[in-house]
Amino acid sequence: MVKRFLGTAIFGYFALFMVLTLLIGLRWNKERKAPEQPIAFSHEIHAGTLNLECLFCHESADKSYFAGVPTVQKCMECHRNVKTDTPEVQKLAKYWEDEEPVPWNRVHRIRVREFVYFTHKRHIKKDIQCEQCHGDLTAMAQVRAVSSLKMGWCVSCHLENEASVDCQICHK
Ligand code: HEC
Ligand code: HEC
Ligand code: HEC
Ligand code: HEC
Ligand code: HEC
Repeated sequence: MVKRFLGTAIFGYFALFMVLTLLIGLRWNKERKAPEQPIAFSHEIHAGTLNLECLFCHESADKSYFAGVPTVQKCMECHRNVKTDTPEVQKLAKYWEDEEPVPWNRVHRIRVREFVYFTHKRHIKKDIQCEQCHGDLTAMAQVRAVSSLKMGWCVSCHLENEASVDCQICHK
């Protein structure tokens, strides 16, 4: 009787442990993996090789909470004439003809967003480079998150830069 109980308990303990490990692993992967995008857009080409400014496409990063993603029109300023014969650019042209936005998948999202106050503007105005938070996009063919976006990450940079760490600035 005791033996059976112990056996079950030990089995249960390991089963739970394995399920937890699996779940944590899955979540970690989901957060770190570069999500598939509807068009194979490459920062390595556009921000790297072509050397386009980040703010040229992410126009509201220095004006607003959100950095924003460029409109199809912005892409078509070049792709009406550039590489029009490739399948990926033809996908883009199709969104343009249909007057639909490209349904890009979000890569970065603070987990409890409604509970956290974050704005790009304040950070960009302070001359913090995109790279400090997002890594070197000029070398990424596909965007993936390099920062955890967790509270410890925000707070440790605030401490290093003598920015405020009062709870109320991030949790209004
Ligand atoms: C300033 C001009 C410019 C803008 C704006 C621009 N592109 Fe490009 N794009 C290029 C050029 C030039 C290339 C080709 C680079 C090379 O292969 O040498 C390219 C390459 C590409 C390719 C790869 C084509 C292939 O299959 O070889 C895709 C896909 C693409 N762009 C999508 C986009 C999307 C989506 C946007 C808008 C978010 C965009 N581009 C905005 C100039 C631009
Ligand atoms: C030609 C336009 C263009 C340029 C230039 C550009 N981006 Fe982007 N960016 C995009 C598009 C389109 C997406 C959405 C698709 C994707 O994630 O690849 C995007 C996505 C992102 C994301 C992920 C957003 C999310 O969903 O979390 C980050 C971060 C980013 N860009 C940063 C940068 C930085 C930093 C630079 C400058 C080094 C830059 N971008 C230059 C068009 C551009
Ligand atoms: C202080 C850190 C930090 C800096 C600097 C920063 N970002 Fe972000 N970025 C974030 C965080 C955090 C998120 C997720 C925000 C959310 O969940 O709403 C994000 C999200 C994004 C997104 C997707 C959502 C959106 O806001 O449109 C894009 C695109 C982006 N960043 C581009 C940029 C570009 C371009 C720069 C430089 C001009 C930049 N970021 C600088 C921290 C930063
Ligand atoms: C790379 C460093 C860095 C990271 C990462 C960072 N911050 Fe900041 N943040 C700063 C600096 C520096 C300031 C001070 C800006 C100023 O003085 O105008 C600041 C200012 C702020 C402010 C305004 C503070 C005030 O006094 O009103 C808020 C809100 C804020 N950050 C939220 C966040 C949140 C939320 C995150 C994480 C998702 C984050 N920050 C991540 C460097 C960072
Ligand atoms: C610089 C910004 C910043 C400051 C300062 C800050 N937080 Fe946070 N906090 C965050 C971010 C970002 C998250 C989301 C973390 C995540 O995704 O796990 C968070 C999450 C939390 C959560 C967890 C919410 C949940 O549902 O998991 C609690 C509780 C919390 N913060 C309390 C505090 C307290 C108390 C203080 C003051 C001592 C504080 N925070 C200061 C940025 C900040």
